Amino acid sequence: MPPVIAIDGPSASGKGTIAEAVAQRLGFHYLDSGALYRIVGLVGRECGANLDNDLEISNISLNLKIKFDSGRVWIDGRDVSVQIRGEIAGAAASRVAALPGVRRALMTLQHSFRQPPGLVADGRDMGSVVFPDARLKIYLTATPEERARRRYKQLMEKDSGASMAALLQDIRDRDLRDSTRAAAPLLKCADAVEIDTTGMPVEDVVARVLHLYQKLQKTQ
Ligand code: DC
Repeated sequence: MPPVIAIDGPSASGKGTIAEAVAQRLGFHYLDSGALYRIVGLVGRECGANLDNDLEISNISLNLKIKFDSGRVWIDGRDVSVQIRGEIAGAAASRVAALPGVRRALMTLQHSFRQPPGLVADGRDMGSVVFPDARLKIYLTATPEERARRRYKQLMEKDSGASMAALLQDIRDRDLRDSTRAAAPLLKCADAVEIDTTGMPVEDVVARVLHLYQKLQKTQ
């Protein structure tokens, strides 16, 4: 089986940026599992479905035709790359992600990303549930204040208005929801390496992950 590097952690901990950079440096495929929950949340809303109804949303998840290509995302031929990043899709994602049937429905799709020469997957349960045999498991964290600052900067770059206090509250609420839900809650696996990225430049975090992976390769 091609090797997997699983990168889990809370909202805005920098998982996407780090995972994408590590994948690029190793020439590996990349899975942004959060995007799948965002797509399901978005489509569920658009269909007027009840976002807390597991059966209804699982059926939607099973029938989606999703395509990832060159950093863009399509559903049934429609480019939704920008829409899924919005706060509305994020809030819908957090609701549908709590449904066990939806998590099961997305499992096969997530496994299909595991292709040679390897995969870097980021999310909440990559190391614990989806790829428990991952060669390297990373748990990325940063203080809620640092994560709110990063999100604020991102939103400012996109010219979207936001207040730091509201972002910090949103991050705390999402952490609580993601870590206390019954189905695949956010948790640090016993065999994961924790990296606290507070105050660390992106390049240093990427170098640390690559170093850990290369060290493991030498002991194989
Ligand atoms: O990482 P993100 O912000 O794009 O994730 C969106 C939502 O999906 C977030 O509330 C957590 C959830 N999620 C999950 O439950 N499991 C994953 N593997 C990835 C994301």
